Amino acid sequence: TDLSTIRNFSIIAHIDHGKSTLADRLIQVTGGLTDREMSEQVLDNMDIERERGITIKAQTVRLNYTAQDGITYQLNLMDTPGHVDFAYEVSRSLAACEGALLVVDAAQGVEAQTLANVYQSIEHDHEIVPVINKIDLPAAEPEKVKTEIEDIIGIDAQDAVLTSAKSGIGIEEVLEAVVRRIPAPTGDRAKPLQALLVDSWYDPYLGVVILVRVMDGVMKKGDQIRFMQGGTQHLVDRVGCMRPKIEQLPELGPGEIGFITAQIKEVEQAKVGDTITTVKGGATQALPGYKEVQPVVFCGLFPVDAADFEKLRESIGKLRLNDASFSFEMESSAALGFGFRCGFLGLLHLEIIQERLSREYDLDLITTAPSVVYRLQLSASRTDDARELYLHNPADYPDVNRIESIEEPWIKAVIYTPDEYLGPILKLCQDRRGVQRDLTYVGGRAQVTYELPLNEVVFDFYDRLKSISRGYASFDYEQIGLREGDLVKMNILVNNEPVDALSLIVHRNVAEARGRGMCERLKDLIPRHLFKIPIQAAIGGKVIARETIAALRKDVTAKCYGGDITRKKKLLEKQKKGKARMREYGNVSIPQEAFIAALRMG
Ligand code: GTP
Repeated sequence: TDLSTIRNFSIIAHIDHGKSTLADRLIQVTGGLTDREMSEQVLDNMDIERERGITIKAQTVRLNYTAQDGITYQLNLMDTPGHVDFAYEVSRSLAACEGALLVVDAAQGVEAQTLANVYQSIEHDHEIVPVINKIDLPAAEPEKVKTEIEDIIGIDAQDAVLTSAKSGIGIEEVLEAVVRRIPAPTGDRAKPLQALLVDSWYDPYLGVVILVRVMDGVMKKGDQIRFMQGGTQHLVDRVGCMRPKIEQLPELGPGEIGFITAQIKEVEQAKVGDTITTVKGGATQALPGYKEVQPVVFCGLFPVDAADFEKLRESIGKLRLNDASFSFEMESSAALGFGFRCGFLGLLHLEIIQERLSREYDLDLITTAPSVVYRLQLSASRTDDARELYLHNPADYPDVNRIESIEEPWIKAVIYTPDEYLGPILKLCQDRRGVQRDLTYVGGRAQVTYELPLNEVVFDFYDRLKSISRGYASFDYEQIGLREGDLVKMNILVNNEPVDALSLIVHRNVAEARGRGMCERLKDLIPRHLFKIPIQAAIGGKVIARETIAALRKDVTAKCYGGDITRKKKLLEKQKKGKARMREYGNVSIPQEAFIAALRMG
């Protein structure tokens, strides 16, 4: 293929601004799909993705488009994940393209999540084509949005394409803009093969499928290839593209995006960002930008029913087949029995895995408090040398006397919000030990930058932010390294027994407030028993907060005054069901929901 007829681009958009709808239209207009196939959104292909309205795995389709200049172009449309947890994947997808469509909702305007990806795209020297979508809405203000794009992002938006992806307006104009404004890729057929591994996923029929962007050289079926970072060698057995259905091709040349399979069993071997070259006459230099992704948020996953442990092991193993970015190892807890300590790229990633386990594999799980990774410097003891410890489970917290320092990860967060919610948002950040770095206004909106400890954000920061801003604030973050902090381990004792799943590492300044909050919430979450139950928060041997659950009257139905029998039945059933989902701690039954709910900071 002539390089000058190739265009590689991605679509950047805030959630719900219409990325998938627009992508589907582009596919439809260029003839990739029949009407029936069109009735399902194709680019987002996992159920959970669809329901949560987010794109998790990047996918790519190839479109053939004959432009007004009479030339038929090969357009490769790259779908990128839309969430901060997957920022590295996004960066690799962008590295495979020369331009991007920036889709902005004509009624909503620019939002923080969009910004992060736009800036990344600008860093990759992309040509950015603004597309103002949903112009059919009565509240659409395309002119205002144009000014906003110019003010906030600093790119020319006068030539923005106006579309209604829903009603099919402006689609042809988008395709023309792609052809005219986004530059063709460059590359040299004669050079040794250098292909960027953009993404990989497990397909039950094909094994591991690898999405690649060829930079230089050519890739063909039968090639013996080598992963320059991973170090393994493989025989290419398929080369092709997706339209979006799979189509096999004789080769992928420079500038082209497509997929290969090479009899690879595990996605772990095909690391995003790796460089693929040929074994014979291969490249000597890998492409820049490769990073080993590390999980940042850890938590324990335990089956509610201990008999489900094997099922959990199997299910986690299956999920891992398709997602090398989460990690797991077996863990045992005094009260929760056997389970797994799992690491994730972020909270959303955690929620997705947790949800898939319960939905696709029908597992009831207890999730312990999410924790970040702390770096501890330990002094020598009689049995141990001095050393550095990376702690991602409060249960492994060492003897306090040995700890010389604890460092925690910090992030830089950018929050973007309508003015009227700014007050409560600043308070939220302040309560979470935030340090304000910047505050600017654009139109009726504020953009505020804070540095925050990641551990204050991992739990329910995002939910709180959304609720105090009625959903209007958006949030984006990047990690900025470790900082020392006065951090301590707080234990929660129920009926005088420490509940390991509830222990957490907190900053000393907020420990008391956090401990009091947890005790209060647990008091409401744990049902009464036949005896009095003390609930305490403690640091070391020192109790910093305490609540007591009063003893129970015996008959739960007593308060129904004999009246409605169905109501009584319901109550008893509810109690029975509740039982099944409880865990015993020091003779006390703690409901499954309590483990997470107790940690909400209110
Ligand atoms: P994520 O996949 O979550 O990133 O969202 P998205 O940006 O792909 O948004 P999606 O295409 O799923 O569209 C979000 C909602 O907006 C859907 O309910 C669409 O039907 C609707 N929508 C998309 N384009 C238009 C449009 O041009 N006009 C109107 N009125 N609604 C639209």
